[in-house]
Amino acid sequence: MPVASRTQVGIVGAGPAGLLLSHLLALGGVDSVVVENRTRAYCEARQRAGLLEAGTVELLRSVGLGKRLDAEGLEHDGIYLQFLGERHHLDFRSLTGGRWVTVYAQTEIVKDLIAARLADGGMIEFSCSDVAVTDVTSDRPVLSYTDSSGVAHELTCDVIAGCDGFHGVCRPLIPGLSIYERSYPYAWLGILASAAPATDELIYSRHADGFALYSMRSPEVSRLYLQVAPDEPVERWPDDRIWAELQKRFAVGGAPGWSVSEGPITDKSVTAMRSFVATPMRHGRLFLAGDAAHIVPPTGAKGLNLALSDVVLLANALRALVKDGSPGLADAYSDACLQRVWRSTHFSWWMTSMLHVAPDADSFESQLQLSQLSYVASSRAAAQSLAENYTGYKPVRFDL
Ligand code: FAD
Ligand code: DHB
Repeated sequence: MPVASRTQVGIVGAGPAGLLLSHLLALGGVDSVVVENRTRAYCEARQRAGLLEAGTVELLRSVGLGKRLDAEGLEHDGIYLQFLGERHHLDFRSLTGGRWVTVYAQTEIVKDLIAARLADGGMIEFSCSDVAVTDVTSDRPVLSYTDSSGVAHELTCDVIAGCDGFHGVCRPLIPGLSIYERSYPYAWLGILASAAPATDELIYSRHADGFALYSMRSPEVSRLYLQVAPDEPVERWPDDRIWAELQKRFAVGGAPGWSVSEGPITDKSVTAMRSFVATPMRHGRLFLAGDAAHIVPPTGAKGLNLALSDVVLLANALRALVKDGSPGLADAYSDACLQRVWRSTHFSWWMTSMLHVAPDADSFESQLQLSQLSYVASSRAAAQSLAENYTGYKPVRFDL
C-alpha cells in the first residue's frame, strides 16, 4: 500500500520553475511538495541559462533570493553583435533609458532555491521514480511517486503544477492541446571553460561557418556556444577542434591581437533548438509552467526568464484559489502567460534566424541576414527594438 499524504499544491519538477513556485507559495502561506526524478547533485550541476532580465533579478531580490545574486552576478550594460569580422556594441542603458541585464547561472539560482526551501522546512523529494498525476479534473488530484528509498507515495492535492520541463509527464495529460512548433536545422554545442573571459560583455557572432556566442560565469570562467549540426555527437568535438572553431568564428578584423581565452573545458553538451508553445496551460486542477508548456531557442536568452514569470502569475493564482477559494486569477492564468510567451517566442525566433547559418541557406538568405544585422548595428530604432526585447518586458509582481 502506498503511503498516503496530503498537501495543497503538488509540484512536479525541481527546476527553477518548480522550486520558485514552492518558495513563493510558502511565502503566501500555502503548503507544497516538490517531486523530482533526478538527484539533487544533478539538478544543481545541469548547465543551462546564464542571462537574467533586470525584472527577474528584481523579483528574486524581492522574495529574499538576492544575497548571492547581488554578490556574484555580473551586471552588463549591453552586448556585442559581430558579423563580417566586425564587432558592434549595443548599449542597452542608453537605448532603453537605463535597463541592463545580469549574468548569473541557472545552476546558482537552483542552488539558492534548494537551500532556501530546505532552510524553511520545505519538502523536496529528489531521485523519485514512477512519477504520475491522476484525477486532475476532480477537486482532489493525486501525485504518486516512488521515493529514493523505494517507498511508494500517494499525495492528495488541491492543485498540481506541472513544472517538469519539455520532456515531463504533465503536458501529455491535457487533452486537445493546440501545439505551435518550429524546429531549427542546427543545434548548440555549449562548453564551460576555466578561462578568464576575453570580453567584458556577451558577443553574438554570425560567421559564414555558423553562429557563436561568447558568454561567461565569473571573471575566471567562460561559457561559450557554437552552432553545430542537429544531433551532433559531442565526441566529434575534441577540445582542440572547439577552440579552433571558436577562434575562427570570433576573429575580428579591427583587433588582430585579440583572441578567445582558452583553458580546461569542464563541461560539454549539445542542445537542440526548438520553438514550441502548447495552449491552454491548464486543464482542471493541473497547471503547466515554464518549459513544460513552451520552449524557445536559447539565442534570445528568454526561457528561464519566461519560466519565472509564469511562476509568479501561477503563485498569485494558486494562493487565491486554494486559500480564498477565488478562481478568477486561475481562470485567467493561461491567457495572462501567453502574451509574454508569444512576444518571447517571436524575439527568440528572430534572433535565431538572423544569426545562424541554415545548411540549405542560399546567398539571398545570407544577404537578408547581413542587411538586418547592419540595420540593427546602425539604426537607433532597430537597436532599440532589440534592446527593449532583450532586457525584458514589464515585470510581473508577486503579491507579497
Ligand atoms: P527545467 O529546468 O527543464 O526543469 C524541469 C525539472 O523537471 C527538471 O529538474 C527535470 O529533471 C524534472 N522532471 C522532468 N520530468 C520529470 C518527471 N517525470 N518527474 C519528476 N521530475 C521531472 N533561458 C534564459 O532565460 N536565459 C538564458 O541565458 C538561457 N540560456 C540557455 C542556454 C541553454 C544551452 C539552454 C539549454 C537553455 C537556456 N535557457 C535560457 C532556457 C532555460 O534554461 C530553461 O527555459 C529553464 O531551464 C526552464 O526551467 P523549468 O523549471 O521550466 O524547466
Ligand atoms: C547564455 C545563454 C544564452 O542562450 C544567451 O542568449 C546568453 C547567455 C549563457 O549561458 O550565459
